[in-house]
Amino acid sequence: MATAPMKCEQVGTRPYDFILAFQEDNIGIIQLNRPQKLNAISLDLMKELVDCLEWMDQSDDIRCIVLTGNEKAFAAGADIEQMAKASTVDMLLLDQFERWDRIRKIHTPIIAAVSGYALGGGCELAMTCDMIVASETARFGQPEVNIGVIPGAGGTQRLTRAVGKARAMELVLTGRMFSAEEALDWGLINQIAPVELYLDTAKELAKTIASKPPVAVRLGKEAIMKAFDTTIEGGLDFERKAFYLLFASEDKQEGMNAFIEKRSPVFKGR
Ligand code: CAA
Repeated sequence: MATAPMKCEQVGTRPYDFILAFQEDNIGIIQLNRPQKLNAISLDLMKELVDCLEWMDQSDDIRCIVLTGNEKAFAAGADIEQMAKASTVDMLLLDQFERWDRIRKIHTPIIAAVSGYALGGGCELAMTCDMIVASETARFGQPEVNIGVIPGAGGTQRLTRAVGKARAMELVLTGRMFSAEEALDWGLINQIAPVELYLDTAKELAKTIASKPPVAVRLGKEAIMKAFDTTIEGGLDFERKAFYLLFASEDKQEGMNAFIEKRSPVFKGR
């Protein structure tokens, strides 16, 4: 990472043990930091991640977020040691997926920068982000069937929407890992980069998005998310209202004036 970690009090409400948080220009970077367990997603790690994402989402200075792990693992899944001891009632009362739902409510675009293993909850976490940039070494998969369960953090739904029923069925029922090339070919991810460049590639994408008018970016993200949970009529209606709404923003006036005056726009996020 090019920048020094931000002080904990700058990025959240309490010190973090399992993630690192950085800011570079207008982008926030969160690194999962439990390398000895291949970034397995424990309850505490998830708590910190959601806390930090929500904090970054509130910051006017952060306009795009990159979520990453390390070269060997983005995340090798939910923490099996924690789940091994849990009963059905424990899981029900814990309601851990409520935290995952909160990631869906983040307005700021999130790019997953994935290298190495993105398995189970790790693959689901990457798919919960808005875009995925992968290194050539990335290994995706939903191997839960091998330990007697199924994906629980959205894998059966998001993978199916992204790659289609036949592929999702095979991947979830066999648990086989798949490569970055396959993921790109199937439309699950945006780009593949060499392992030494995947994070920079994700940051470049984030910086491009961060340079755009934030209100338009926010509504663009919201409108695309609508495509997953409404009818075409409902989605088109939302898009149209969001389009009209942007005509009330200063940035729309600035963007259009700048085009006509043949100059670069200066966006304020208003
Ligand atoms: N949970 C807890 N610990 C994990 C873990 C996980 N998901 N994945 C890896 N680890 C730990 C290992 O136990 C090991 O710890 P120790 O050194 O203390 O023994 C350490 O990380 C390194 O792992 P390995 O020695 O296994 O590394 P490897 O290179 O030999 O194998 C691997 C790598 C193929 C990814 C293998 O670790 C593996 O299969 N991990 C589990 C993958 C998995 O099944 N994920 C799905 C979890 S269930 C889930 O996510 C449910 C959901 O939908 C929410």
